[in-house]
Amino acid sequence: MVKICCIGAGYVGGPTMAVMALKCPEIEVAVVDISQPRIKAWNSDCLPIYEPGLDDVVKQCRGKNLFFSTDVEKHVFESDIVFVSVNTPTKTQGLGAGKAADLTYWESAARMIADVSKSSKIVVEKSTVPVRTAEAIEKILTHNSKGIGFQILSNPEFLAEGTAIKDLYNPDRVLIGGRDNAAGQKAIEALRDVYAHWVPVERIICTNLWSAELSKLAANAFLAQRISSVNAMSALCEATGADVTQVAHAVGTDTRIGPKFLNASVGFGGSCFQKDILNLIYICECNGLPEAANYWKQVIKVNDYQKIRFANRVVSSMFNTVSGKKIAILGFAFKKDTGDTRETPAIDVCNRLVADKAKLSIYDPQVLEEQIIRDLSMARFDWDHPVPLQQIKAEGISEQVNVVSDAYEATKDAHGLCVLTEWDEFKSLDFKKIFDNMQKPAFVFDGRNVVDAVKLREIGFIVYSIGKPLDSWLKDMPAVV
Ligand code: NAI
Repeated sequence: MVKICCIGAGYVGGPTMAVMALKCPEIEVAVVDISQPRIKAWNSDCLPIYEPGLDDVVKQCRGKNLFFSTDVEKHVFESDIVFVSVNTPTKTQGLGAGKAADLTYWESAARMIADVSKSSKIVVEKSTVPVRTAEAIEKILTHNSKGIGFQILSNPEFLAEGTAIKDLYNPDRVLIGGRDNAAGQKAIEALRDVYAHWVPVERIICTNLWSAELSKLAANAFLAQRISSVNAMSALCEATGADVTQVAHAVGTDTRIGPKFLNASVGFGGSCFQKDILNLIYICECNGLPEAANYWKQVIKVNDYQKIRFANRVVSSMFNTVSGKKIAILGFAFKKDTGDTRETPAIDVCNRLVADKAKLSIYDPQVLEEQIIRDLSMARFDWDHPVPLQQIKAEGISEQVNVVSDAYEATKDAHGLCVLTEWDEFKSLDFKKIFDNMQKPAFVFDGRNVVDAVKLREIGFIVYSIGKPLDSWLKDMPAVV
């Protein structure tokens, strides 16, 4: 029986391995992690991450051929194929701080694999890593391996949170990169056989190691660039009276461009886009390519601009002050159908409003109070490090931030409400009831273009929607960035 082990039971490791176990009943899959609470949750009825369809998959396989454990060394020792899906944060200190990927967790995983292995293994990079990481990992493994053979493969993950199970069942492609020699090709075939249990072979793309590593960074950079492109257009739409939804539709119906990732919003978030683009920028710089680096830097800058532009619009519309005013924040996760808040634009928007002395009342259907308070108190980039290593700002923000359990409570007596995540339930709220319970004039700032602005204006709200022709109220109060 083939045995697979995955180091890192996070957003990628957990769902990926659960689907692999479901689709390959004759393979034993162990997902291991150093975090005891995380493994305990994977073994309970309350999984550590929210992902539609995940509960079902885990229930079907857990205890049969899918196991979650903190006994990392035992499972690595027993496995033929070891996936590594640990975090790869942005460095916060030293050479490349603020840009380069921090491979501390990866290196410690690689050293542990070398230490405990007594038989040859295929080691698969599942984490998103800088191009040529495999070379470094190969060196760590071979210099510590006591003669055991290791083959490194790059098999980046393209799932999107919120649709992870769907994406894993039916991926656009699976990418496997390996060495160009016979042993490398044999390892590629072994991994291809695993995926071939459910993925049509023509969708399994085999490349060299460096192409596979770089393709993942490139895919994320291209996706983020589309969002920043349409967001840059949204600012121009507001200034000219064009409607960004109409512009995006007109542009996206061109088959060369396509309609996806053209929704204007308060900005992109999530654990990957910013981190991976920063990483790409650093790699460009290290290779003496400053122009290429600056091109990608602009994608991040436009994203920061969009978040700040939104927050400034809130302040400027409300007579240039939100001091002491209650503002409801609907949605905190970086997108709908996930409880993930890593790099969510809500953090920057909320921090900006808090700096202007607003009182925030936050509601998100999937994010817990503890997480929101932690996110608003944490130093930049710290979210991708283990909890005990995170630096929390000394001055508390809890006097200004209140987390509540429904949208009506959040908006009661508020001067304004901001929609920061496109949860479906926000579309069907009773806005008449909300209006009646808010201070007047009552403002809606829609950072995801989900509410029906025409209907809300009829009710009496002053509405700001990203990239849409402005209310006359807002026109008279331009936001300065
Ligand atoms: P995560 O933070 O949810 O999970 C990583 C896990 O690794 C944590 O539970 C941590 O405790 C564990 N870990 C760290 N060092 C370890 C060690 N030495 N031994 C055992 N466990 C260890 O991160 P996530 O989101 O799953 O991402 C993992 C990688 O996958 C990152 O490189 C990310 O860029 C990439 N990725 C993430 C996607 C996403 O949507 N979240 C999509 C595609 C790739």
